[in-house]
Amino acid sequence: MKRSPLRLLALVLPALILSLPACGTKDDGLTPVTESPGDALRSQFAGWPVGPDAPTVASEELVALGERLYHDKALSAGRDISCASCHSIDNFGQDNKAFSPGTGDRMGGRSTPSSFNAFRQIAQFWDGRAASVEEQSTMPMLTDVEHGLTSEQQIVEILRQERGYDTAFESAFPQSPGDVMGGDTITPDRVRTAIGAFERTLITHSPFDAWVEGDDGALTPKQKNGLQTFVSVGCTACHSTRSVGGHMFQKLGLVVPVESEDQGRFEVTGKDSDRQVFKVPSLLNVTETAPYMHDGSIATLAETVRHMGEVQLGQDLDAAQVQSIVSFLGALKGELQ
Ligand code: HEC
Ligand code: HEC
Repeated sequence: MKRSPLRLLALVLPALILSLPACGTKDDGLTPVTESPGDALRSQFAGWPVGPDAPTVASEELVALGERLYHDKALSAGRDISCASCHSIDNFGQDNKAFSPGTGDRMGGRSTPSSFNAFRQIAQFWDGRAASVEEQSTMPMLTDVEHGLTSEQQIVEILRQERGYDTAFESAFPQSPGDVMGGDTITPDRVRTAIGAFERTLITHSPFDAWVEGDDGALTPKQKNGLQTFVSVGCTACHSTRSVGGHMFQKLGLVVPVESEDQGRFEVTGKDSDRQVFKVPSLLNVTETAPYMHDGSIATLAETVRHMGEVQLGQDLDAAQVQSIVSFLGALKGELQ
C-alpha cells in the first residue's frame, strides 16, 4: 500500500513526558477525569453537519423501494453487484477492504466509506463530488468498476423488466404530477429519491450520542479520558460536530506532507489549493471500519490515530495517548436505530 516515506521517518524523538496532575487517574494517567466532561466539551460536538434535505417526506413504501433497489444485483452489468455488496447493512455500511471489487471483479481506487449516517455530511465521496445521497446514488451504477451500467435509460429499462417494480414505484410515488400528466412511473430521479430515502434511515446511536444528549454515565472513565485527550491534542479542529467529522474538507498532510497520487478535491474543483484535500471523514463506528484513509492504506485504528497526530497536528502522540483516543473512539460505535 502507498505509505508516505516521511511517515516512515517516524519521529523517534523521546516522547514528551507529560507532567501528571495530582488528580490524574491510574487508568492511563494522561488526562485528569473531571467530575463530568461538562458542557464546554459537549459543545464541540453540538449539531450535525448540515447536509442537503431529502427531496420529499419519506413514506414506508418509499423506504421499502429504496431498500430493495439498494440490495438488487439486477442493477449491475454482471447481475453480480448491488450497493450492499460494498456497503453491507450487516457490516456497518462498508466492507472492511482497502479497495472493493465491482462487477466482474473490477477494482476501484478508493476505500468504501460507510453508508451509515452518510446523508448528514456536507457532501458525499472522499472528494465531495456529490451533494447529497440522492445525487450520489445512481453514480456507482454508472461507474464501470462498480455496477458497470452505461446510462440512466438502462437503469430504467432494467427496472421495467424486473418483477414488481412498477407497482412498487406507483405506491412509493402516489399522485405525483408525472402520473397525472401520464408521465413515466419509473424515472432516474425517483430511483435516486427512493435509495436516498432508505439511506436516510441508516442512523446509528452510540454511547457517545447518549453522552452528547446529556447522559454523563454513558461513557466509561476510560472513554471520558480519551475524549479529553482527543480534544486537548486538537483532533476536534477537524473532527467535530455530532458526526465527529463529515462537515468540512481539509488537506491530508496539513503539517507534515503526505505523498498521495490521489489529488482528492482538486479533481473536482481544479483549484491548486484543493490538492490532496479530502472530506474529513465522520468517525462514527470507526472501530468497525478498518482499513483506514481514502486508500485503505492503514490497517489499524491505533496506527491511524498516531499518523493523524503526526501529519495533521505535528504531534508525536505516545502509546498511552493513542490508546486513550482509541478507547474514546470505541464509544462512537452505535446500533442502527
Ligand atoms: C464496488 C463497491 C461499491 C458499490 C457497488 C457501491 N459503492 Fe458506494 N462507494 C464505494 C466507494 C469506493 C466510495 C468512495 C468513492 C470516492 O470517494 O470516490 C463510495 C461512496 C459512497 C457514498 C459516499 C459516502 C461518504 O461518506 O462520502 C455513498 C452514500 C455510497 N457510496 C452509496 C452507494 C450506493 C447507494 C450504491 C448502490 C447504488 C453504492 N454506493 C454502490 C464503493 C461502492
Ligand atoms: C487538519 C484536519 C485534521 C485533524 C486535526 C485530524 N484529522 Fe483525522 N482526518 C482528516 C482527514 C482530511 C482525513 C481523511 C484522510 C484521507 O483522505 O485519507 C482524516 C482521517 C482520519 C481517520 C480515518 C477515518 C477513516 O474512516 O478512514 C481517523 C481515524 C482520524 N482521522 C482520526 C483523527 C484523530 C484521532 C485526530 C487527532 C489526533 C485527527 N484525526 C486529527 C483531517 C484531520
